Amino acid sequence: MRAVDIIQKKRDGHELSSEEIAYLVKGYVNGDIPDYQMSAWAMAVYYKGMTPRETGDLTLEMAQSGDQIDLSPIKGIKVDKHSTGGVGDKTTIVLAPLVAAAGVPVAKMSGRGLGHTGGTIDKLESITGFSVELERDQFFSQVNEVGVAVIGQSGNITPADKKLYGLRDVTATVDSIPLIASSIMSKKIAAGADAIVLDVKTGSGAFMKTLDDSIALAQAMVDIGSHLGRHTVAVISDMDQPLGFGIGNALEVKEAIEILNGEGPKDLHEVCLILGSHMLVLGGKAKNEEEARVILKGHLEDGSALAKLRELVQAQHGDIGQIDHPETLPTAKRVIEVKSVQAGYISKIQAESIGIAAMLLGAGRETKDSVIDLAVGIKLLKKIGDVIEVGETLAVLHANMDNDAKIQEIENNVLQAYQISEEVVPVPPLIYAIVT
Ligand code: URA
Repeated sequence: MRAVDIIQKKRDGHELSSEEIAYLVKGYVNGDIPDYQMSAWAMAVYYKGMTPRETGDLTLEMAQSGDQIDLSPIKGIKVDKHSTGGVGDKTTIVLAPLVAAAGVPVAKMSGRGLGHTGGTIDKLESITGFSVELERDQFFSQVNEVGVAVIGQSGNITPADKKLYGLRDVTATVDSIPLIASSIMSKKIAAGADAIVLDVKTGSGAFMKTLDDSIALAQAMVDIGSHLGRHTVAVISDMDQPLGFGIGNALEVKEAIEILNGEGPKDLHEVCLILGSHMLVLGGKAKNEEEARVILKGHLEDGSALAKLRELVQAQHGDIGQIDHPETLPTAKRVIEVKSVQAGYISKIQAESIGIAAMLLGAGRETKDSVIDLAVGIKLLKKIGDVIEVGETLAVLHANMDNDAKIQEIENNVLQAYQISEEVVPVPPLIYAIVT
């Protein structure tokens, strides 16, 4: 077999065999196939696409390229949840204890964030002492005993994806649906889940900006799941504005605690109930989403979901006092109100710009070596559809920096992220579709 023939076959729009895909992936990981051939192949895929069978084969090859986690020591059906990323997305911090309270074992491996704000692991590190590193055996026994563990990714998971993603990033081949779908799903398959709930974001702050692309990505991932025997459901949710009000690590943990206390922003509450309902159904703890919703609401109302968060934090050596007193989580020294210069109705909030503004305050990493400030970020006071008066506060910056010129620049960025209309603006839908 020769890489050049495989590239040509894809360039001409033909379907590759399983053996050809395996040859490419293995050859790329072991260094036999150079970057220039793999990038030519990625560009051919970008233009010609892949069939569901090819996408499934690529996913499996990448999943098998490194460590694969065998979750069988954990009892029950392990349901993983993955979000394609968005601004203010703290759903894992709500869902992990919430679905665990309902009896679905949560063995969650999460990442750190590069860009906008931290990842789940960074956010959880806002809790003093919270350890995200557990030995494999400890991880399994914690899930068996407590019902939930959340740790950072360790070991050598999907090296083929890591190498290929790095190449795609510099060859304009990231935004190819089969390549994105196989990249995401390879990590989920290697992490050992029995079933997967995907939260595919759509809109200005999402990877997929249009609903059609979001549905196509969701469908590709659901197809991979069924090809590889992992029941997968995808929820298409809105990212045309940030989720909830808080953006920034400790601010997001505080908001997750509010939801677990039965309070907090309505959009975040609803997205968590929808994703959680699918997790309960796939985990065999409810017959259908309606029943699951009632169960989850019960755990929010009776305090058992919050109690599960306390257990999780305690098991991972975090300070549970901060769960009961979120005001003791890291807090920024400066609070700056961003005031509207226009009156009307909020018609748009550029989620990506808000994410970048939070990053500039220090809530996210500009490079993988940047150190993030867990206390800082942005709290939105107004969302799409809300009424605003001149001089009223749109958002609040939580900052630790003394540089007033930089603060002013960030304030302007936030102001520009908001669009205000004279006409009444309806609240946009939160969930666009469910792909099964
Ligand atoms: N996230 C991933 O993990 N992979 C992609 O290709 C794109 C987004």
